[in-house]
Amino acid sequence: MSKITQNKEDISSYSNFDEIIQKEVFIDVSLDFDKKQMLGTMEVKYEILSSEIPNVILDLKGPEIVSVEYVIKNEKNEEKTMIPLTYEIYSENVYKDSLGTPLIISLDNVKKNIPDEYNKLSKSKTLMLCIKFITTENCTGIQFLTKEQTYTKKYPFMFTQCEAIQCRSLFPVQDSPSVKSIYKVKTSIPSPLTFLFGGIKKESYLDNKSNQNVTIFEQKIPIPSYLVAFVAGELEYGKISERCGVWTEVGLCKIACNEFKDAEKYIQIAEEYFNHPYEWEIYNLLVLPFSFPYGGMENPNLTFVTPALLAGDCSMSNVIGHEISHYWTGNLVTNKNWKNFWVNEGFTIFMERKLDSALLGEEMENLEAIVGNNELIADIKLLGLDSEYTKLSPDFGGNDPDDGFSTVPYEKGYQFLIFIEKLIGKDNFREVMQKYIKKYRYKSVDHTAFKEVLEGLINEKLKDPKKIIDEINWDKWLYEKGIPSYKNDFSSKLLKEAEKLAEDFLQEKEDKSSVLKVFKEWHTNVKLAFLNYLLDNKNKIDEKIMKNLKNELNLAEEYNSEIKYMWYLLALDKKVEEEIPNIKKFLETHGRLKYVRPVYFAWIEKDYNQAKEFFDKTKYLYHAFARRIIQGKFDKGK
Ligand code: BES
Ligand code: ZN
Repeated sequence: MSKITQNKEDISSYSNFDEIIQKEVFIDVSLDFDKKQMLGTMEVKYEILSSEIPNVILDLKGPEIVSVEYVIKNEKNEEKTMIPLTYEIYSENVYKDSLGTPLIISLDNVKKNIPDEYNKLSKSKTLMLCIKFITTENCTGIQFLTKEQTYTKKYPFMFTQCEAIQCRSLFPVQDSPSVKSIYKVKTSIPSPLTFLFGGIKKESYLDNKSNQNVTIFEQKIPIPSYLVAFVAGELEYGKISERCGVWTEVGLCKIACNEFKDAEKYIQIAEEYFNHPYEWEIYNLLVLPFSFPYGGMENPNLTFVTPALLAGDCSMSNVIGHEISHYWTGNLVTNKNWKNFWVNEGFTIFMERKLDSALLGEEMENLEAIVGNNELIADIKLLGLDSEYTKLSPDFGGNDPDDGFSTVPYEKGYQFLIFIEKLIGKDNFREVMQKYIKKYRYKSVDHTAFKEVLEGLINEKLKDPKKIIDEINWDKWLYEKGIPSYKNDFSSKLLKEAEKLAEDFLQEKEDKSSVLKVFKEWHTNVKLAFLNYLLDNKNKIDEKIMKNLKNELNLAEEYNSEIKYMWYLLALDKKVEEEIPNIKKFLETHGRLKYVRPVYFAWIEKDYNQAKEFFDKTKYLYHAFARRIIQGKFDKGK
């Protein structure tokens, strides 16, 4: 068996995209809900980059390979001849559990049996393979839900989540964000279910013979594999604007359209900031069942979101602003490997807050930055101050990049960009962003792309450029561990109000001034800042203060999941037994890791056995990723 190694450009991939690169993918997929399988036939066009004709090494983790063939098309592209190829599945990797068991395809059969065709390859530099695959229960990028796990409880449901390196658990692929390809996808599913792909719908019809809904999608903008996305279920659609709409399970569409009504505005503000149009044409949102482990995922043309965003008051629309921003920072200009994940997320948080500042006022930007900074500090403490994952640009070695998932790339990245923005001025910064998007769209980059545009502008426009460039100190920002030593000033009037009220509770003031009256009207972010202050000072909170908080603010009755989970963290710390039924209900109806991870971790601290008993009963409600992270905590023991 040939020895293979991690790719130097992206150590999370075994594929040899430096020798041969995937350009176009056509997939014909169907689902078997009884067996919980996705079955597909893919035709992939590759371009050969090396002088020799290489083996094709693809990432793979979980699917069964049915066949691999070499495709010869006749001149008119009408007829195909298929030559079976030999392949191996490499299972002897040190890191096989996290990075998978790559597929190595040899072209020897072509060389031996049709040497003419083989010789042509060195000139044409392109080749086409046809691969048939079936997913298995080990495919962690795809989740099948039983009908009981859906909103109407009538039909089963399926969705995928490929970021960071789960595309390889759907089908064999060069699973690196360095590689961008265009896609055409044909989906077939029995009526009345809908099967969507993250692309633009080109054709849709009911095949009378099979009673299947057939839909053809296209993604003409080259995308990295982590943006491949499928979903199937009983879905309904509502329009928000000419180009925006919402897909939900049947019964939720109206509420969702209202909750996400600002999508169009967000897009327009982003277009203005970047001075670059929304290139993806259509923007749809998809509300998933609650087991979806993230708040949102910027799949092309189809942002996936958790149903927890349906708070009834648009209070979590920042997530929509975030995902929309990704269609420039992330989906057009893409991080080239997971070490540079902050180039996606830090820039996107920066944009998210710019959009919220335009839509909700500058005060909100600062408040979000404060809430974000609180989350950053909490995460760094959880990871350990000395953890590699507290670096803005960490080394994942052979680990799954998802294992290092935290707010570090988001918030440290954001703070770095704000620091630069303050240094060179808002207008200059914006100009850099605009040039950066224009220059690097459709490409995959590391941080040097932005650095180059930034330094170009500094040299061209600013006085004493060398001094400014030195002051930026990239190495420190990229590789410093722990809490950032540079502190931005995010002071805010609303923060002071929140902290004042929290102090009043801590000091058990009878008269909590006028602030208490306005609590109900506070934006969620102010309430979060308030709760954060309490969590920071939890050692000062006794039973009586907890009672006061509960009676006067009724936090358990808040509808917003962000507020709820923070309240439960406090309740668990204070061992408030009467909240346990609410916490159970919360954990049974939320799958977003951001909430369930800290709540479980706090519950484990409080009462390991009680938490374990509940988790064992309910864990299959969760996505494999969330289940693995929480299980890991239990496995560490009491
Ligand atoms: N792209 C991410 C989600 C993601 C990251 C999935 C890494 C898998 C691996 C998405 O854009 C995101 O950042 N979501 C956040 C939204 C928040 C920052 C507003 C989330 O889900 O919490
Ligand atoms: Zn993001």
